[in-house]
Amino acid sequence: MTEKLSQSHAEREYIPGLGKNFLTPLYDVAHHVFGLRPIHQTMIRLAELRDGHRVLDVGCGTGNLLRTTGQQHRNVDLVGLDPDPKALARAERKARRVGLTVRLDRGFAQELPYREGSFDRVFSSLMLHHLDSASREALLAEVRRVLRPDGLLVLADPVFDEHGHDHGHGRGRRQAGMRGRMGEQMRGNVGDAVSRRIAAAGFTVEPTRTMALRIGGRVGIELAHPSGSGRK
Ligand SMILES: C[S@@+](CC[C@H](N)C(=O)[O-])C[C@H]1O[C@@H](n2cnc3c(N)ncnc32)[C@H](O)[C@@H]1O
Repeated sequence: MTEKLSQSHAEREYIPGLGKNFLTPLYDVAHHVFGLRPIHQTMIRLAELRDGHRVLDVGCGTGNLLRTTGQQHRNVDLVGLDPDPKALARAERKARRVGLTVRLDRGFAQELPYREGSFDRVFSSLMLHHLDSASREALLAEVRRVLRPDGLLVLADPVFDEHGHDHGHGRGRRQAGMRGRMGEQMRGNVGDAVSRRIAAAGFTVEPTRTMALRIGGRVGIELAHPSGSGRK
């Protein structure tokens, strides 16, 4: 199911966090059950954050990654973007509860409302599979645009083998998610397809790190920097 967001400059559809709008209030329960926290911890470690960094979380949902980042790095500047107003409202409440200042913007990954070279780090956690092929391309071009030349992209998304198996905890189950519209998009997550796509958008990508979820399958974590930045 998709939701529509009208903006003055664009009208796009999007797939909410749990696939349906009415399920968004349950997103944080799912986050806990699937065991996403260790994925977020790994993303934060890979980002090598320093005081003064400006960090964008594209598709921030209910703000779990932003909150953990802010709790561990009090002196970074946090920005989250998501099209889902319900998710953003939860993110706002959660940040306030732990005394964090976070800028939250309603918008789309394909059209980031930020200036060129205005972020040191861009996170994207479990959002890519919500996008079709053209939107993925637009997202990566936008991330390349808003990242500083010495910046880093840290992106996590499910990974499957060519038969649609996720190999979570060695079981090699076929994902129910491989059916329907989401299933078509998941085919863009087979093997090293995500890493190749990031490289094609002008990034140098480290070998994919994979982690198993507590329930469900495996998540691939990509660490990439703009090519030509001189970073090794
Ligand atoms: C599975 S949730 C992940 C949320 C969060 N990043 C996390 O790790 O818990 C996917 C999120 O992507 C958002 N999303 C879907 N389409 C999007 C788009 N075109 N641009 C930005 N975010 C999008 C959804 O609203 C949802 O909040």
